[in-house]
Amino acid sequence: MKTKIDLLQDKVKQAHTGGGAARIESQHKKGKLTARERIHFLMDENSFEEIGMMVTHRSTDFGMEKEIYLGDGVVTGYGNINGRLVYVFSQDFTVFGGSLSETHAEKICKLMDMAMKNGAPVIGLNDSGGARIQEGVVSLGGYADIFYRNVQASGVIPQLSAIMGPCAGGAVYSPAITDFILMVENTSYMFVTGPNVVKTVTHEVVTSEELGGASTHATKSGVTHFACSNELDAINHVKRLLSYMPQNCEEIPAALPYETANEERTALNSLMPVNANQPYDVRTVIDEVADADSFLEVHREYAENIVVGFARLAGRSIGIVANQPAYLAGVLDNHASTKAARFVRFCDCFNIPLLVLEDVPGFLPGTDQEWNGIINNGAKLLYAFSEATVPRITVITRKAYGGAYDVMNSKHIGADMNYAWPTAEIAVMGAKGAAEIIFKKEISTAKNPEEKWLEKEKLYSDTFANPYRAAERGFVDEVIEPAQTRIKLIKAFKMLENKVVNAPRRKHGNIPL
Ligand code: HXC
Repeated sequence: MKTKIDLLQDKVKQAHTGGGAARIESQHKKGKLTARERIHFLMDENSFEEIGMMVTHRSTDFGMEKEIYLGDGVVTGYGNINGRLVYVFSQDFTVFGGSLSETHAEKICKLMDMAMKNGAPVIGLNDSGGARIQEGVVSLGGYADIFYRNVQASGVIPQLSAIMGPCAGGAVYSPAITDFILMVENTSYMFVTGPNVVKTVTHEVVTSEELGGASTHATKSGVTHFACSNELDAINHVKRLLSYMPQNCEEIPAALPYETANEERTALNSLMPVNANQPYDVRTVIDEVADADSFLEVHREYAENIVVGFARLAGRSIGIVANQPAYLAGVLDNHASTKAARFVRFCDCFNIPLLVLEDVPGFLPGTDQEWNGIINNGAKLLYAFSEATVPRITVITRKAYGGAYDVMNSKHIGADMNYAWPTAEIAVMGAKGAAEIIFKKEISTAKNPEEKWLEKEKLYSDTFANPYRAAERGFVDEVIEPAQTRIKLIKAFKMLENKVVNAPRRKHGNIPL
């Protein structure tokens, strides 16, 4: 006769078996871990505490009452990552393909409610065939309950979504509302409608991988922020990403211990190419300015003309937005603007100070850009910077032209400290174009128009292609030797540590979406 404790142990064992050995084997054969294995690798040893292990579905249609699995396809609970409390749900593909039933959704909602009450991040490990088909509308309702909570939690606690299998239909909208998405190459995909529907409706023939795999979303759509080579890589990325964030919007990110050393970076004095039209990789500047090996780039393969990511400066977490002269000359376009705007807003939500490295020739001209909304998209970045109340510092390394000068965290839209290197050029447009417009008559009537043009280009360049006009006005606080950049930034961010901004009273702003 079994004791009550034996019965409990049997049930726990049963829950741990998920959909059974054969389905676990099939999961492994696909190169995927199980829901519990993922949690094991994610959390600090012995820190995970499960909630709702005995939950089962309530469905009776299609003989479902005979197919009961403890936990109902999702493992939920709390524990620590590097000593910090987090809440985790991990969908179990071995149980009805990880599909979302009414009770599966209730478990996730319960977890999110606890995370909100206790002010700690939620991490979702997604591996699901979508709505539990046998349950119909209650499953759809369950999704909506989660979406609603994702929105309520947005900007209150960090929400991270790792996609480790299928994620299709409306199910994609929960990860899309969360702060960061990480996908695994070759074993995960996200789309609103799959290849079969696509074929029927648009006659396009496309594989799941092409339509919504990790590299597609990392390069083409920007839906995912990270494309990870395997599940462990994704889990490690989650841990690292989390390390830059606070627990919630009321806290500041924890700083790492830092010992002051020689902060001068002499290599920066010779980094800038002699010819102002020559590219350089802005990551070199980031590596010199930030703490060693601290830069974690976000959206690395998407809109490469702007680089965004987290780093540390003297141990403190910062967000970096940098124009990338090595790609399309660092021009601002639709994708770069939305990518940077979302990143800026995330940093502002969670008290992560912003550093902008500016070298931008302007907004990209053309019908493609205009017809795809560069007006609205550029405005998003302008809006995001303007509303951000975290400490904000800009370093103009070279070009700061036209509207892009204003948008890229200029003094005028609330930046706290604006530095410029001696190589900075701050003007309405490049000297060649400017000379052509304002000296049009003189050039066209000159004996040698080409020579005249060059002469006027030089005149414009001598007048404006420098940081001093802006510094005279106080739009630039200080022109600095590049080697001093890190020293200046450490001091200025320290000075801004207690910055307080009282925003005007309103329900919420209306960002040009
Ligand atoms: C119930 C499901 C299921 C689902 C899969 N399964 N999806 N059970 N509801 N949505 C079950 C299968 O019956 C199978 O059970 C097991 O999970 C594994 O599925 P397989 O098909 O054998 O696996 P695989 O070949 O890897 O294919 C995975 C898959 C495919 C691509 C996810 O199962 C699939 O296309 N499923 C349906 C996807 C779908 O259309 N979902 C609804 C989307 S609409 P056994 O017993 O054999 O192990 C949606 C709306 C959300 O989600 C709206 C929110 C607003």
